[in-house]
Amino acid sequence: MNIMLFGAPGAGKGTQAKFLIEKYDIPQISTGDILRAAIKAGTEMGLEAKKFMDEGKLVPDSTIIGIIRDRLTEEDCKEGFILDGFPRTIPQAEALEKLMKDMKISLDRVISLNVPDDLIVDRITGRRVCPKCGASFHVEFNPPKSTDICDYCGEGLIIRKDDTAETVVNRLASYHAQTAPLFDFYTARGVMAEVDGTREVSEVKEDIFKILG
Ligand code: AP5
Ligand code: ZN
Repeated sequence: MNIMLFGAPGAGKGTQAKFLIEKYDIPQISTGDILRAAIKAGTEMGLEAKKFMDEGKLVPDSTIIGIIRDRLTEEDCKEGFILDGFPRTIPQAEALEKLMKDMKISLDRVISLNVPDDLIVDRITGRRVCPKCGASFHVEFNPPKSTDICDYCGEGLIIRKDDTAETVVNRLASYHAQTAPLFDFYTARGVMAEVDGTREVSEVKEDIFKILG
């Protein structure tokens, strides 16, 4: 099954992706995680991307499309995958469509996690993430079982560098200007399904499972 999680920064894409990995045994492809790994590794691409990410701006399409082309053709994507944080612009969506056509595969479902902007700031400023497996928690709304320890891999949790109230404003602006138009793009292709992302984490999970069957 090929799934895409769609929604504003902090809508819960990463949180829900972890449940889908467990249920369907397919990999999560998070362009944000891939870019952060490149920054950590100190690659040229990572250092270039960092300038955009620190300001809450989107990384150029050419960089992102190259990342996805390499990742989708890896062996572990053969049975399906979960796209998290990609595509984020119309040119990225068009490039994905072309790539998937060449690979003779298609997107089965796009799940839109609907969360209004006024809830996003609290979610992002209270977030704690795992630097090892990418899992997301929240100090209040979705706490780990042990304080600041990842439930999935036991690593110590950290605060993401771009999770500040100031950067969130830019990330939301980028989302509305460049990413939100993809809602109509995927609705027109008949694959869009909407979920109320403001409900409890477990309720959102159940809603998504119902849609995917
Ligand atoms: P990326 O890493 O993709 O960040 P993002 O889109 O801003 O999304 P987040 O990871 O912040 O949110 P999420 O929806 O995964 O929410 P989460 O589950 O963590 O991108 C970072 C940067 O990289 C971008 O700004 C850009 O510069 C660059 N980039 C990445 N991809 C790109 C692309 N394709 N093109 C160009 N540039 C790109 O949840 C958030 C918080 O809420 C957590 O604390 C969580 O515990 C909590 N929470 C989750 N669900 C609930 C719930 N139901 N109720 C209450 N709290 C909840
Ligand atoms: Zn972890």
